[in-house]
Amino acid sequence: MAGLRTLDDLDVVGKRVVVRADLNVPMKGGAVADDTRIRCLIPTVTELADTGASVVVLSHFGRPDGKPVAECSLAPLRAPLEALAGRPVQFISTDWADSVHLPRFGRSGEIVLMENTRFHRGEEANDPSFSRKLADLGDIFVNDAFSVSHRAHASTEGIARLLPSYAGRSMEAELAALDSALGNPVRPIGAVIGGAKISTKLAILENLVKRADLLVVGGGMANTLLHARGKEIGRSICEPQLCDVAERILRQAKEHGCTIVLPTDVVVADRFAPGATHLTVSVDNVPGNAMILDIGPDTVAAVAEKFSKLRTLLWNGPMGAFEIEPFGEGTFALANAAARLTQTKELLTVAGGGDTLAALNASGAIDDFSYVSAAGGAFLEWLEGRELPGVEVLRAKSGMEV
Ligand code: 3PG
Repeated sequence: MAGLRTLDDLDVVGKRVVVRADLNVPMKGGAVADDTRIRCLIPTVTELADTGASVVVLSHFGRPDGKPVAECSLAPLRAPLEALAGRPVQFISTDWADSVHLPRFGRSGEIVLMENTRFHRGEEANDPSFSRKLADLGDIFVNDAFSVSHRAHASTEGIARLLPSYAGRSMEAELAALDSALGNPVRPIGAVIGGAKISTKLAILENLVKRADLLVVGGGMANTLLHARGKEIGRSICEPQLCDVAERILRQAKEHGCTIVLPTDVVVADRFAPGATHLTVSVDNVPGNAMILDIGPDTVAAVAEKFSKLRTLLWNGPMGAFEIEPFGEGTFALANAAARLTQTKELLTVAGGGDTLAALNASGAIDDFSYVSAAGGAFLEWLEGRELPGVEVLRAKSGMEV
């Protein structure tokens, strides 16, 4: 991987390797509700353990705000990690207090999961003395948590300054996928950006109009752009105070040769509720008392046709209120169109961020995308074109210690 050292560059026999994971997984009734992030970690942990390292896994879990909080303990993650890794995992309970001296872990093949690093205030403050405490757990640092690499914390950034540092297999795969999606894409490249509020995605739109050939905007955020273009949008979600910004983005798109596609027909309802009376109308005929809750079939057909001309597609956010029947139809149909083109090898599809996984999961198309990122905030910051401190420090260290 260009500019970054990976496990391929590492001889770990007899070494203690500290692996930063993201075990911040959704829980339900005390059990893991979605183990995607645990699965992401397995290739790195098993490869290291199989090749003679002892592995110390670090992660945060929730936002305990710098102190031990029982509900944020990583203890319940030990068994699922052990089951997926197929080898014993020991859990080390600690409050990370400055007075506590942690033992030296280190038998070859051993895997140790440490308690939540955010139990210590030094983690989020990226306090050098806490970074030192974490670094003392090993000889080498491997970051396998792209999804938390937008945080300059002690266990993502600080520790990498103190130990020889490498990208894990999941980090490597993520960065390769993101590079082929936006860093170095095969053109033409399109992006689908949806979600409720344009205010949360302005930086993404501003970055993408400069880099993509086609930008499909859907969901509530499209309403502000439609409103800026003088369309009646009834009682739909809208941020009228951002109309000027929306117009600027439309202008920037034109300057950079990026075609912006907005819905031409929409599904409207009298209220935001399951089973609400709904109908499909042209964007020129939205009733004054209606709410736009999905894109319509003409928009889906037109966008699917545009997809067939693309070679690369990025996807973030739903096209409508997909959680409520029947307002997911537009998102699902479009996701399936992208998935079909991916399967016939015409299109590389990369998705991630926030609600995206839930929407694509509900569409049934998720497994047919080329790459789906398990990252939320980190994926969004990357879409904004920002540097992620946890990745940048790996690049800097790779350059320094060839
Ligand atoms: C996430 O779930 O996006 C990551 O684990 C980061 O969590 P945070 O937003 O609490 O830093």
